[in-house]
Amino acid sequence: MDAYLNAIREAADYIRARISDLPEIGLVLGSGWGDFAEHVEDAVHIPYTEVPGFPKTGVAGHAGEWVIGRIAGKTVAVMSGRFHYYEGHDMKTVTLPVRVMQLLGVKTLILTNAAGGVNGEYEVGDLMLISDHISMTGASPLFGPNIDELGPRFPDMTHVYDRDLRFLAHLVANGQHFRLREGVYAQMPGPCYETPAEIRMLRVLGADAVGMSTVPEAVAARHGGIKVMGISCITNMAAGVLDAPLSHGEVMEASRKAAGRVKAFLEEMIRRI
Ligand code: HPA
Repeated sequence: MDAYLNAIREAADYIRARISDLPEIGLVLGSGWGDFAEHVEDAVHIPYTEVPGFPKTGVAGHAGEWVIGRIAGKTVAVMSGRFHYYEGHDMKTVTLPVRVMQLLGVKTLILTNAAGGVNGEYEVGDLMLISDHISMTGASPLFGPNIDELGPRFPDMTHVYDRDLRFLAHLVANGQHFRLREGVYAQMPGPCYETPAEIRMLRVLGADAVGMSTVPEAVAARHGGIKVMGISCITNMAAGVLDAPLSHGEVMEASRKAAGRVKAFLEEMIRRI
């Protein structure tokens, strides 16, 4: 059997043995979104380092654990922290948790991240629903022999970000009286922030926000038949939009400020999915 498929199965078996109800919704918490994991009820915490086949390194700036339990009456598998390509993980490792969710039976995946605003109309603190993405890493989690048990060789990517979930997201945002942006997310490899010239390039290409994650997870999930919603917190304006240097501290601070709105939004989304 394929070694990767074997690793996914082993990890899924390990997690399955630790929980009482299987999750129907998966949630990946990006930089600054991590506090949301505190709202999981009857939570089982499983550090990534305990899961067979998972990297033994921690996740910088994140708890690096599964938090599995209930939110708004639904069983959710929350990933507090993710594996990034810029940390040196290959794309198969970056998407290993998504594959584990697939085997656990997750039907809907909510991907969150911190992102720089490329669209000049955006403001720091905005939430942006991802309508589509542009991959600038040149790498894919689907490279190599296809694992037919997980999905097809040439998956369609016309609607990566589910239209019904996007519609629902706007309903929820309207109900909560905040402006939800919607736009195209470009993934750069990182870990350096972009240059102003790169940001001008991304704008020409049609990007509204830029970050260093999410795309491989969305691709793996769609390959596996999981519905995807993506949402970015605009934590800073991208390089060169304002005449100010970017810092990770600024990114974390801006997402902390958005935490209250994020909690209400995610909770209501989960309730209504
Ligand atoms: N660029 C890339 N990734 C990011 C940014 C950015 O400006 N802000 C938060 N994550």
